[in-house]
Amino acid sequence: MKAELEAIKTEALQALKGVETLDALESLRITYFGRRGKLTDVMKGMGKLSKEERPEIGKLANEVRATLTEAFDSVTERLHRQQREQQLAAESVDITLPGRKPTYGKAHPVMQILERIEVVFRQMGFDVVIGPDVETEYYNFDALNTPADHPARDLHDTFYLTDGHLLRTHTSPVQIRAMENQKPPLRIIVPGKCYRVDYDVSHTPMFHHVEGLLVDKRATFSELKGVLTSFARQMFGDQTQMRFRPHFFPFTEPSAEVDISCAVCQGKGCRSCGGTGWVEILGAGAVDPAVFEAVNYDPDEVTGFAFGMGVERIASLLFRIPDIRIFYENDLRFLRQF
Ligand code: PHE
Repeated sequence: MKAELEAIKTEALQALKGVETLDALESLRITYFGRRGKLTDVMKGMGKLSKEERPEIGKLANEVRATLTEAFDSVTERLHRQQREQQLAAESVDITLPGRKPTYGKAHPVMQILERIEVVFRQMGFDVVIGPDVETEYYNFDALNTPADHPARDLHDTFYLTDGHLLRTHTSPVQIRAMENQKPPLRIIVPGKCYRVDYDVSHTPMFHHVEGLLVDKRATFSELKGVLTSFARQMFGDQTQMRFRPHFFPFTEPSAEVDISCAVCQGKGCRSCGGTGWVEILGAGAVDPAVFEAVNYDPDEVTGFAFGMGVERIASLLFRIPDIRIFYENDLRFLRQF
């Protein structure tokens, strides 16, 4: 039995040297220490030994078991370490490789211009106010001195929804909402989406307007001209000239359409401005007393002026884009240029 134990020890230690995986180690462990393992078998046979033999063999058996346990433990540790190193090597990152450039999104060109417009008016003390895209006929038309039988309603090519609702055709309804919520004085701009049934080189069914409204004890037309001239020069350059042409809007009186000198030809006349030297950029006027009455402002106490401009129109002039529909075709080759 002594020889048997020695043989088991040598054999097991030899076998351990060749073990390369934790699975192989486990099956080797079962071979020696398992319920029917070789070492276990010998230990079980101890009972049959004589009293004299027992202490000596027992000691040897314990020694062999201890040696083998230690040897198994150290192989276990070696294999665990190897496994961890392999894993680390497999997961390692080559930090010397050039990185992949992230693609950054940018503001849409129309939004870039809208932001510039907002900055210019903020600097002049205007607050930014917004209102809903879905409006009632009251806010979009009636309160703005445009009753149902008014011919100006036809000019708007409105998208009507159900229950007297519609997609707002301009941002002017927010004039009414703002005055309902706030006592004068008032100085606001209203950026936002508008909708009209229209589609050609200078119209898309959805577009953006920036409305402006200033109401005070004595807001004059000359102030309106000053504000708009300052705006146009900041957007289009110091040399920009302006001209006010008489026009009609139901909610302003007097009203004007405002042109700037063509930035392409400096007013000499070119294809961009149809040879006139001027391009229209907005509508404006003094607030009609009927509008003040609709919001319970006293027209004898306050006066005001308002203006409204198309953001796509201004963007197309600044970026020299002849057809504004391209803004909404979402062609990345176009959009990436801004
Ligand atoms: N709402 C007008 C339009 O849609 C623009 C405008 C706004 C004109 C304010 C005068 C005053 O064209």
